[in-house]
Amino acid sequence: MSQNLKIQGGRSDFASMQDRDRDLLMSHLAAFWGEYREHSAHGRVVPFQSQISLSNILNEDLPQEESSAEELFSQVTRLLRDYTVKTASPMFLGYVTPPATEMGVFADALTSIANQNVSFATLSPIGTAFESTAISWLHEIVGMAGDNGGILTSGGSEANLYAMAVARRWALGSDFNTLGYAGSGKQLRIYCSDETHHSIDKAAMVLGLGSNNIVRIPVDKYHRIKLDLLVKAIRRDQDDVRYQPLMIVGNAGTRMCCAFDDLGALRSIADDTKTWLHVDAAYGGFFRLANSYPKHLNSLGDADSLIIDPHKLLFVPYDCGALLVRRRSDLSECFGGAEGEYLEPTLSEGMVNFANLGVQLGRSMRGLKVWLSLKRFGANAYGMEIDRLLSLAQTLKGILESDKDFQLLGPVEGTALCFRWRGLSAPVDRVNGLNSAVRRAVLQRGVAFVDEVSIKGKVGMRVCMTNFRTRPEHLGRLVQEIRAVAKGGH
Ligand SMILES: Cc1ncc(COP(=O)(O)O)c(C=O)c1O
Repeated sequence: MSQNLKIQGGRSDFASMQDRDRDLLMSHLAAFWGEYREHSAHGRVVPFQSQISLSNILNEDLPQEESSAEELFSQVTRLLRDYTVKTASPMFLGYVTPPATEMGVFADALTSIANQNVSFATLSPIGTAFESTAISWLHEIVGMAGDNGGILTSGGSEANLYAMAVARRWALGSDFNTLGYAGSGKQLRIYCSDETHHSIDKAAMVLGLGSNNIVRIPVDKYHRIKLDLLVKAIRRDQDDVRYQPLMIVGNAGTRMCCAFDDLGALRSIADDTKTWLHVDAAYGGFFRLANSYPKHLNSLGDADSLIIDPHKLLFVPYDCGALLVRRRSDLSECFGGAEGEYLEPTLSEGMVNFANLGVQLGRSMRGLKVWLSLKRFGANAYGMEIDRLLSLAQTLKGILESDKDFQLLGPVEGTALCFRWRGLSAPVDRVNGLNSAVRRAVLQRGVAFVDEVSIKGKVGMRVCMTNFRTRPEHLGRLVQEIRAVAKGGH
């Protein structure tokens, strides 16, 4: 036991340390919040790559004794300032990683202070109410009728995993939870476009369905799943004794080009073939708040299940995803029934025990940040911001199309742009390598963050216009930076 920790008058030093820390940290936190934002706006977007050997910086033995809170505060704030990628910078344009709103940050701080466990309504009545309201508002946004079934998750990947588990339980019936695959004998098949996010593969692997049972259907020139090939693939499997078609996964905002499948047509195909329709709307679901959203989103709510990520275009801090289902019983039948020693009844009509709708037992109060964000800004302000991002994407599309040095690699229907530096003077077989090198150099110089894509064998860069701080002049800077790097051979 530590030499320094003592028990005095029944009160441990550990408890009194909390009181001292709180007094100190409260005053420091506000200052750090402001300084970090300032640094994000004007400093490097990406830390000096050559300095990143964090395993060495933090490589020390397990501390046996306490450290000074004051010293730790300055150490940790320095590490965050120097070694984080600044997602709040207007030049951060990579992946689908938007900045967080300040209200979302505040909500996370309150969540930690209250430290609620939103497993059972008896344990966290208000946490349960925040999450239930958040789920019902998300239903309204996506236009899903039903009984507001759903749950907040760590993100889209976990939500996709849950959706596949729910569809599997639906297809294999009530014995599946006890007998597993023993009764079925057939391989369950999943159909999706070849642009679908890899979390669907991960889910099939984790659930024991096998990634070979994901049937990847080619896309058309708009990067939408080809419907005739989808129907053919399902019919072929229906005629094969080895297979049982399970689910179609549609996309509302693909991982690469943010393309939208024809969701209305997918609904009809699912009905005709008696398969489950799941839609990955992690990225594109919130576009429904905008005036100029892609037309296929009209049918989004007709899916049996869908995912949507508040940590994407609702701009709440990581992490927060959501799975929405038309019938809550599909969730409780999949995840409930194994409560064991935890026998908490539901408190009252509408108060669900979220622990029985997913895998997690101990759960944080994610509902607060979704609830508080939607209350603070309202659906209209989100819609206007998403409209602005959609139009910003069109602005960049125009700039790239009119510049002979650049080539778009896909359609621009949402807020993602895939493009490459043409490298007109470079041999064709070197252009892929050149684009990788340009992207790496852009990161190295720290001016902007874009990610790398490969579309039909063509390597290029991707900009995700999901940043509420980005303005048209930042796009000009980005194009200038890429040109400077590509031409200057940095
Ligand atoms: C279309 C799509 N689906 C799923 C995911 C996975 O979501 P998460 O990163 O929240 O797990 C992403 C991530 O960007 C995505 O773009």
